[in-house]
Amino acid sequence: MSFTSFFSKQARKPEGFFGRFVMKLIFDRGNTFLNNFVEELLEVQTDDRIFELGSGTGKLISQLAPNIDGGYIEAIDFSAPMVAIARKRNNQNIARGKVKIVEGNFDELPHKKACFTKACSVNTLYFWSKPEQTALKLAEILKPGGSLVLAFEDFAQLKQRKLDQDVFNFYSTYETEDLLRDAGFSQEVTVVSRKKGSAVFHCIVATK
Ligand SMILES: C[S@@+](CC[C@H](N)C(=O)[O-])C[C@H]1O[C@@H](n2cnc3c(N)ncnc32)[C@H](O)[C@@H]1O
Repeated sequence: MSFTSFFSKQARKPEGFFGRFVMKLIFDRGNTFLNNFVEELLEVQTDDRIFELGSGTGKLISQLAPNIDGGYIEAIDFSAPMVAIARKRNNQNIARGKVKIVEGNFDELPHKKACFTKACSVNTLYFWSKPEQTALKLAEILKPGGSLVLAFEDFAQLKQRKLDQDVFNFYSTYETEDLLRDAGFSQEVTVVSRKKGSAVFHCIVATK
């Protein structure tokens, strides 16, 4: 297996020693900007019930949890090392029942209809194997009027990087907006883009 393929697979689902140590460092350092961007757009209210798809090292959860009082955060990730790191990082809020981190595949999550007021996902869109199904499920778990913040790197920029295109799928903001509208985010779908140096990142804020 080439390093490009190995690295792309680790980015999709971190595993083993490389996942636990190297990908943790890469996610914690490399994704801070996007996590902060999402935190800002989520406009967390103390009683929000928030769902995160692909929580990685659990950094975003640890940023959001202090703003919650009476609300709840639930996250899912199918990487065992990431779940272990995220649970350790958020152990006090897990013990208090404020945070729950589930190990599993979001696409196989038993139906949780209209339980959450907000949902978010950072850097997972590229790995959605059935994007229509995943987008539909994100809409289903939200209460009417609930909103999703979906964050990802610009696709033209990603295409220039050495990434395995069998692992990474690239979507434009237009394609992603359409995907979310078709999934039932019928009230408002807005793209907010921001630059960090020469890198461009997008967040789509979509309301059900
Ligand atoms: C590139 S990492 C991003 C992690 C984190 N959101 C961040 O930005 O630092 C993608 C994460 O999503 C998880 N993931 C991808 N697809 C998933 C799925 N269908 N269900 C659960 N977790 C998934 C991976 O295990 C990985 O931890």
